[in-house]
Amino acid sequence: MLKRNIIILGALSAIAEETARLYAAKGANLVLAGRNEERLNQLAADLKIRGAAQCDVVAMDLSHEELVASTFAEMTSALNGKADGVYLFYGLLGDQRQEEGDITAALRNINVNFTSAAAWCLAAANQLERQASGVLIAVSSVAGDRGRQSNYIYGAGKAGLTVLVQGIAHRLAPKGARAVVAKLGFVDTPMTAHIAKKGLLWAKPAAVAARLVAAAEKPSLPVVYVPGFWRVIMTIICIVPAKIFHKTKL
Ligand SMILES: NC(=O)c1ccc[n+]([C@@H]2O[C@H](COP(=O)([O-])OP(=O)(O)OC[C@H]3O[C@@H](n4cnc5c(N)ncnc54)[C@H](OP(=O)(O)O)[C@@H]3O)[C@@H](O)[C@H]2O)c1
Repeated sequence: MLKRNIIILGALSAIAEETARLYAAKGANLVLAGRNEERLNQLAADLKIRGAAQCDVVAMDLSHEELVASTFAEMTSALNGKADGVYLFYGLLGDQRQEEGDITAALRNINVNFTSAAAWCLAAANQLERQASGVLIAVSSVAGDRGRQSNYIYGAGKAGLTVLVQGIAHRLAPKGARAVVAKLGFVDTPMTAHIAKKGLLWAKPAAVAARLVAAAEKPSLPVVYVPGFWRVIMTIICIVPAKIFHKTKL
C-alpha cells in the first residue's frame, strides 16, 4: 500500500509526472504545485482518470520563499492535516557561462535550486516531525559532488540541498519520520533536451520515478544515487587529482 497523502513540489517536471502517476494508480490524495496552472489542471484531470482520489493544484513560482510557510500549511490542510510524502522536484539547470557574467542570474539559479528549496524542505521537516511520520524526498544531482567548470553554479545549489536534506534525515530519524535526498545522474527530460543523447548513462523518467517511490515506501539510505551506478562514477570523479582534473573539459 503506497502512502496516501502526497505533496509534489514541481509537479510538472517529467520525473514528477511519472511519480504522480504511480501514486494516482493507487488512489492517493495529491497536491500538485508548479508554475503553469493550465498544465497543472490538465495533469490533475489525467491523474483523477488514473485513480487519484483527490488532486488539488497550487499554481505558483516555488522560488518565492516568503510564501513557503503559509502555502505549505495550506497544502497540508488540503490533505486533512497529514502529509505522508513530500516530493521536491523543481530545479533549474541554467546557463553556466551566462550566469558567470550575470551575478543576478547566478543567484537566481542558487535561489531556485537551494534557498527556496531549503525553505520547502524545512517546512516539510517541521510537519513530518510534528506528525512523527512520513517522508521527504528531495531531488538533487551528482553535479553537487564535485565542482566542475561546466555547471558549478547549479552544482553548488544541489550540493547545498544534499547536505540540508541529509541533516534533516538525521534530525527526523529518532522522531519516526524520514528524509531522503536522491542524487540523479543524466535523465532524458526537457531539462536536458539540448544535450546530445543518449548512451548507457542516460535514464528514463519513469525508471527514476519508480526508484524514488521505492525509496519513499521502503527503508532507504538517506542519500541515494539514481541510478545506483553513479555512486561508483562519482567516487572516481571525486578522487581524480586536481592536476589531472583541471586538464579536462568536464
Ligand atoms: N534531467 C537530468 O538529467 C537531471 C539530473 C540531475 C538532477 N535533475 C533534477 O531533477 C529535477 C527534475 O527535473 P527534470 O529532469 O524532470 O526536468 P524538467 O522536466 O525540466 O523539470 C524541471 C521543472 O522545474 C520547474 N521549475 C523550475 N523553476 C521553478 C520555479 N521557480 N517554480 C516552479 N517550478 C519551477 C519547471 O517548471 P516550468 O515547466 O514552469 O519551467 C519544470 O517543471 C530537477 O531538480 C533537476 O535539477 C535532473
